[in-house]
Amino acid sequence: MQRDIELFDIIRRERDRQTRGIELIASENYVSDQVMEAMGSVLTNKYAEGYPGKRYYGGCEVVDESEKLAQERLKKMYDACWVNVQPHSGAQANMAVFMACLQAGDKFLGLNLSHGGHLSHGSPVNFSGLMFHALEYNVKEDDGRIDYEQLEQIARAERPKLIIAGASAYSREWDYERIRKVADEIGAIFMVDMAHPAGLIAAGLLKNPVKYAHIVTSTTHKTMRGPRGGVILMGEDFPNPWGKTTPKGEIKMMSALLDSAVFPGVQGGPLEHVIAAKAVAFGEALMPEYKTYQLQVQKNAAAMAKCFIDKGYKVISGGTDNHCMLIDLRTKFPDLTGKIAEKALVAADITTNKNMVPFDSRSAFQTSGLRFGTPAITTRGLKEEQMAWIVELIDRVLTEPDNSQNIEKVRAEVNAQMVKYPLFAW
Ligand SMILES: Cc1ncc(COP(=O)(O)O)c(C=O)c1O
Repeated sequence: MQRDIELFDIIRRERDRQTRGIELIASENYVSDQVMEAMGSVLTNKYAEGYPGKRYYGGCEVVDESEKLAQERLKKMYDACWVNVQPHSGAQANMAVFMACLQAGDKFLGLNLSHGGHLSHGSPVNFSGLMFHALEYNVKEDDGRIDYEQLEQIARAERPKLIIAGASAYSREWDYERIRKVADEIGAIFMVDMAHPAGLIAAGLLKNPVKYAHIVTSTTHKTMRGPRGGVILMGEDFPNPWGKTTPKGEIKMMSALLDSAVFPGVQGGPLEHVIAAKAVAFGEALMPEYKTYQLQVQKNAAAMAKCFIDKGYKVISGGTDNHCMLIDLRTKFPDLTGKIAEKALVAADITTNKNMVPFDSRSAFQTSGLRFGTPAITTRGLKEEQMAWIVELIDRVLTEPDNSQNIEKVRAEVNAQMVKYPLFAW
């Protein structure tokens, strides 16, 4: 077969882009060579609808083993009693939970998207907001932290069937105990979407939501440093049936409801090559080096937030407990939008994303903020000492976002330094 030069040239250029720049998107990371090897393996050829031991296709004995290995390793990482490793993505893991726990039109409560929440927690353009009745809580304007009082007030007044904790742009630890308490009071299911801090949680650096929530979802590709995908977990609450009755009148366990919500509810055949790569990443997460890595992610984020504050930027909530931070550009550069800032930084090979800040005066297309995260640069080997250098470069670009000569100088400096942090073995 003729080699597809056109496509592989595109991949080569993306590899060059990843290698030469500083990657600060909080939800990105670089997986290990063995994770990539598993993803690019012959397992992609296999259809395996169903679950290990209960498939709708023949010849699944081998992939049953890799899926079971992924399940067992994931349980160990979070001390979980039950897991599903098949969701193709974080949004699909969340969709399966909605399907298992709610009927169309039911009320649920999640963090406001413009205050750090995720699309799949109730955005009007997402299945969650289109098919269900979304209610939202905010962060407080004065300190940028979750407004638990407001959350409790809405929960008591509206009695949603599901309460979601977890965010895409929130840099602080959560008070899971407090949310669980109000969920129990009103008989709601408490779900935590730990997609962003999952790696830090696995390393024991943040509280483990599996101990507090009925159901936990996650992506596997952010701080966790696995392949692109999703998972669902349950802790000791897993035997509770919560009285959901099937059309045949039988009461089903939540684990069974979730399994059938993933398949056949929202997905067909599982991506067994990705599940194998998840197993590899979970194995890596159980090694002692993983804790060292996650600790460095956290230290780098704290150092970076401090450097931004020292340079006169407003960091929402005044710092970070995890891997990410949200910068409100308005205090230092009132006329600079997140959109323009992102574009100027990308031109300097510093990749980040524009983000709305709580109580933003601009739209989601313009925004007044930028989100930064340290998982990828930490995988690359950068330490606290380099954070001041990175913030200095960002500040130089944002001070003159239209000065292309200045941007070019910053880019040359970025490229010259990043050569010192090799990325891919092949
Ligand atoms: C909190 C949270 N949940 C879910 C998702 C969705 O994950 P995916 O992009 O894999 O669907 C994200 C992605 O950014 C996220 O931040």
